[in-house]
Amino acid sequence: MKFKSTSQNARRNFLKNLGTGSLAALSIPAIWNPEPVVAMPVHHSSMLPDEKFWTQIKKQFAIPPNLIMMNAANLCPAPFSVNEKVTGIMSGLSKDVSFQYRKQFTEGRKNSIAALAEYTGVGADEIGITRNTSESNNIIVNGLDLKTGDEIILWDQNHPSNGIAWEERAKRYGFKVKKVTVPENPKSQEELVKPFREAITPQTKLIAFSHISNTSGIALPAKLLCELAGTKNILSFVDGAQSLGSTDLDLKSMGCDFYTGSTHKWFMGPLENGILYIKKDKMPQLWPNIISVGWKDSSNTVDEKYCALGQRNEATLAGLIETVNFHKTIGKANVANRVVQLNDYLKEQIRTKIPAITFLTPISPELSGGITNINLPGKKPAEISQKLYDLHGIATAPTGGIRIAPHIYNSLSDIDKLVSALQTLAV
Ligand SMILES: Cc1ncc(COP(=O)(O)O)c(C=O)c1O
Repeated sequence: MKFKSTSQNARRNFLKNLGTGSLAALSIPAIWNPEPVVAMPVHHSSMLPDEKFWTQIKKQFAIPPNLIMMNAANLCPAPFSVNEKVTGIMSGLSKDVSFQYRKQFTEGRKNSIAALAEYTGVGADEIGITRNTSESNNIIVNGLDLKTGDEIILWDQNHPSNGIAWEERAKRYGFKVKKVTVPENPKSQEELVKPFREAITPQTKLIAFSHISNTSGIALPAKLLCELAGTKNILSFVDGAQSLGSTDLDLKSMGCDFYTGSTHKWFMGPLENGILYIKKDKMPQLWPNIISVGWKDSSNTVDEKYCALGQRNEATLAGLIETVNFHKTIGKANVANRVVQLNDYLKEQIRTKIPAITFLTPISPELSGGITNINLPGKKPAEISQKLYDLHGIATAPTGGIRIAPHIYNSLSDIDKLVSALQTLAV
């Protein structure tokens, strides 16, 4: 009898319960099968994303029952299907590293890019695969021609790779960096747009902001900000480290000129990959940073022009497609709605059961993302976060407060466990 691993069984049940009737799209070939991505035979309308459904999703991950992962803002586990695809390719590479054998992974990378482009709603020539958001951000920071007299506007909650990186660049090239602050407890999207609007001058060349802050969890209205920039001929750059894989992303509709993200966060993809989106008509404004074998001046895709970074891990690049398949199987909107549901439930439970807790994150899902950052009065976030892990097996992050970032591998009962752990630590 053929042995089936637990993960294979879990995947089979998962697909059976989703009613796909087909294992083909997530089955793991013995060697890499570089087929282009095809739409999964899934009828999203027939799915009922109730707790039973999410229990099946949870089984797609290796997280043991005694651990609860709620640090998606930092790092996410990848499902079995992704890990098996990547490790399958790596095993193949351990046997044969010839150009002849590896040719298939060049095709695999292209297929991953096509899948990512479809997922984000842009052209395949507008997407490249880097190593992480930090690298994608720095490609933009170092690639634009900015000089004395020019101004750029940053959100003061930007990540260092989209904040300090600009300030260092400005020291060298003499342009001005303006940082804007938004209200701590915003009541409307307009309150979030206003500070950016007011900072614009005729010298402004670019507005760069995190889509969702990794500290406060505030979600900026990216579409409104990109529209604002566009009407004034200003470039818009959205750092999507906290929105890729947690929101129902459509970059064309968002209207940004640049977008970046990491596959190892909410996207639940392979470790150490990032995406870089550059709107087609903005490519002539951006110089490449790193040039290695394969780069050509005539290259006209983002991946070829900006992401020729030397030898890469071909397994993760070609394996990325499996993550897009995973999202497609569940449905991008279902993932996004679940993230909102988990955070809504978490906020409601905290407010009801531990009213002393203060929120760094807006309560409204319109103004916040998948992160809920909280403080227990009189307690140090780092100590509480450590105790949550040591005593309760719950992973959070001490980032300004206790940063909680649940994802689709969490259940509502995981949230209940967290809240009851917080209750015991609050006293
Ligand atoms: C908003 C934002 N940008 C960039 C990054 C950097 O991501 P990475 O470490 O994957 O490059 C992070 C990481 O938390 C982030 O939250």
